[in-house]
Amino acid sequence: MVKKSLGITVSRYIMDLQHMFPEAKGDLTGLLNELIVAAKTINAEVNKAGLADILGQSGKKNVQGEEVQNLDELTNNTIKKRMESCGYVCAMVSEEEDNIIPVRKGYSGKYTLAFDPLDGSSNIDVNVSIGTIFSIPRRITSSSEVSSYDIPGTAEDFLQKGSEQVAAGYILYGSSTMMVFSTGHGVNGFTLDPSVGEFYLSHKNIKIPKTCKYLSINEGNHKYWNENMKNYIDHIKDREISSRYIGSLVADFHRNLISGGIFLYPKDKKDPSKKQGKLRLLYEAAPLAFLIQQAGGKAVTDEGEDILEIKPTSIHQRTPLIIGNKDAVSEAIEFLN
Ligand code: AHG
Ligand code: MN
Ligand code: MN
Repeated sequence: MVKKSLGITVSRYIMDLQHMFPEAKGDLTGLLNELIVAAKTINAEVNKAGLADILGQSGKKNVQGEEVQNLDELTNNTIKKRMESCGYVCAMVSEEEDNIIPVRKGYSGKYTLAFDPLDGSSNIDVNVSIGTIFSIPRRITSSSEVSSYDIPGTAEDFLQKGSEQVAAGYILYGSSTMMVFSTGHGVNGFTLDPSVGEFYLSHKNIKIPKTCKYLSINEGNHKYWNENMKNYIDHIKDREISSRYIGSLVADFHRNLISGGIFLYPKDKKDPSKKQGKLRLLYEAAPLAFLIQQAGGKAVTDEGEDILEIKPTSIHQRTPLIIGNKDAVSEAIEFLN
């Protein structure tokens, strides 16, 4: 049951969480706090994106004569800059960069960070909800914390099963800005009070409702699906279910998490380069799978493989994704296989 207005700030919540583990040294706390600052910065940029577009001359320079950056690039740089010398991560992976992003020499921390700086890019220009998704696995290539500060993280640190994540979450820039995350002790949602500049606990211990109220899939791809997928969608639409598809995974996921629903992005025959579906494992599917599991739901591929059990073989690997209410996801898998 979601309770409102509990009034605890996100920083206080994270600190209390750290105190539950006397052996914790505060690195995860520090890392999450850095992310919160990045989130507030990105939120400010996202909120004025429309204005920047209107005022920008030729879309290249803003009114002060500065370069108007593409929002994807801007959010990517905001997170990179905050993280590269914070000392909590050993390397980063971003949707916007082909290769692993190194941190500054001497600042290699004990976690890694994979992120989708701006999810739902096609919705930026039309003022529809977008978000940032993040995944935090522990570094595995170096065990001695102190002496590893100079040793950069490698791909191996990222090619871990989703079940190894220490924390995961997202920031949703919607009708209000929310940060939703889990460190493996339930899922909590914090809403930004823009007048104060603080995220406050607003959705405590989120559990996905039992009833699958919403179906979220891009039905424009119907013609590219296999027969089983077509049959399944026909079958589920015979039920009492409403169709909702925003086209920002993070926003579709959030709605279904709060209200109950199933989201599907199966593999299809539309684009041969996306044979394994469109969404990325490391910074889209895996972090949301971590959250949904914590909230009592489930995430699998269209062949029924648990997303959290997939061992990635490359950092930008794609995966088919079915995520939402446990029963609905199980039924979909029975139907599809
Ligand atoms: P991104 O904007 O980070 O590239 O991700 C877009 C993704 C995801 O947010 C969404 O669920 C999906 O693309 C929508 O794809 P379609 O337009 O093919 O439905
Ligand atoms: Mn995305
Ligand atoms: Mn993106």
